[in-house]
Amino acid sequence: MRAVVTFLTLVCCVQVSLSEDVFEVEWINFKVDYEKIYQNDSEQLLRKQIFMHNKEIIDRHNERYAAGEETFEMGVNQFTDLLSHEYETLILGGLNATVDETEIDFIYSPTGNVEIPSAVDWREKGAVTRVKDQGHCGSCWAFAAVGTLEGQHYRKTGDLVELSEKNLLDCTSGEPYYNHGCFGGRITTALYYVKRNHGIDTARSYPYKDKKGHCRFDGRNIGATVSSIVRIRPRCESALAEAVATKGPIAVSIEATHLHHYRGGVIRESCHKRSNHAVLVVGYGHDTHGGDYWLVKNSWGNLYGENGYVRMARNQNNMCFIASNAVYPLV
Ligand SMILES: *[C@@H]1O[C@H](CO)[C@@H](O)[C@H](O)[C@H]1NC(C)=O
Ligand SMILES: *[C@@H]1O[C@H](CO)[C@@H](O)[C@H](O)[C@H]1NC(C)=O
Repeated sequence: MRAVVTFLTLVCCVQVSLSEDVFEVEWINFKVDYEKIYQNDSEQLLRKQIFMHNKEIIDRHNERYAAGEETFEMGVNQFTDLLSHEYETLILGGLNATVDETEIDFIYSPTGNVEIPSAVDWREKGAVTRVKDQGHCGSCWAFAAVGTLEGQHYRKTGDLVELSEKNLLDCTSGEPYYNHGCFGGRITTALYYVKRNHGIDTARSYPYKDKKGHCRFDGRNIGATVSSIVRIRPRCESALAEAVATKGPIAVSIEATHLHHYRGGVIRESCHKRSNHAVLVVGYGHDTHGGDYWLVKNSWGNLYGENGYVRMARNQNNMCFIASNAVYPLV
């Protein structure tokens, strides 16, 4: 009897220290992969505890995913050391989802008699640039605006040119735009700036940095122009699908609460707050496990999600407000 008890204790101990070792390795890899540097030991300890807490959430969710009870998988990413309210305030919140109607030239309504394909992916047609990373700055609105403009410029000229988010970040704060740099902005206002300014610089001439600076727009380095701004009929997913199929990648705003630990698959949840992030819809399709989805380009680097992309449920009552504030420019 005694021998059995000892044996059991031993087995338990071995298991505990093993999973602790595994956890230590994961923590160290996380810090290396995402270049995490903490100010001091107490900050480091706090972040480690939050990482551990989030790892439990991720692991439990993934057990349900493996059992077929979830439509998307979670994983470690650059936000695994953040509490959910920190993720919402520090990472999201860069979007002002108010639409200034005076900036809109046209409303796109579905014609209904257009036959659209069952799946679309503008990456395959060469209309989408590489996945970028907004860094520590609430500049999602600039990335979404640039993304839809890059697509329209490509469709018109055949040239896929990376355009400058930094140009938008630096130059849309004052009158008459009133964006707030890294603390928030509107997608339509960014496009409206390009229209009024008669152009936006290329990313090569005006590279990104996750900090607002003085406006350094240079008319010699223009990569694209905007002639007018089109808004998709709000909250109408069939209008959005038709626009994505026939026009190109479309900038949208979403509530990104469920994106904190996203790794892959189709997010099929409900959103109850408000739009707090801007992204680019580059296509749509159907997944046997996750159902109908929108294919979404994010601006959190290509280690995030599915090589920088997220798939979000489509035809599920405008899930997370994805069709509420959708726009693209005419070039
Ligand atoms: C450690 O760093 C955190 C975050 O920068 C700071 O808030 C805190 O005051 C620091 N603590 C000490 C003891 O320096
Ligand atoms: C959002 O945009 C609206 C319309 O331009 C503006 O009135 C409001 O102050 C902005 N909100 C923030 C938080 O910047």
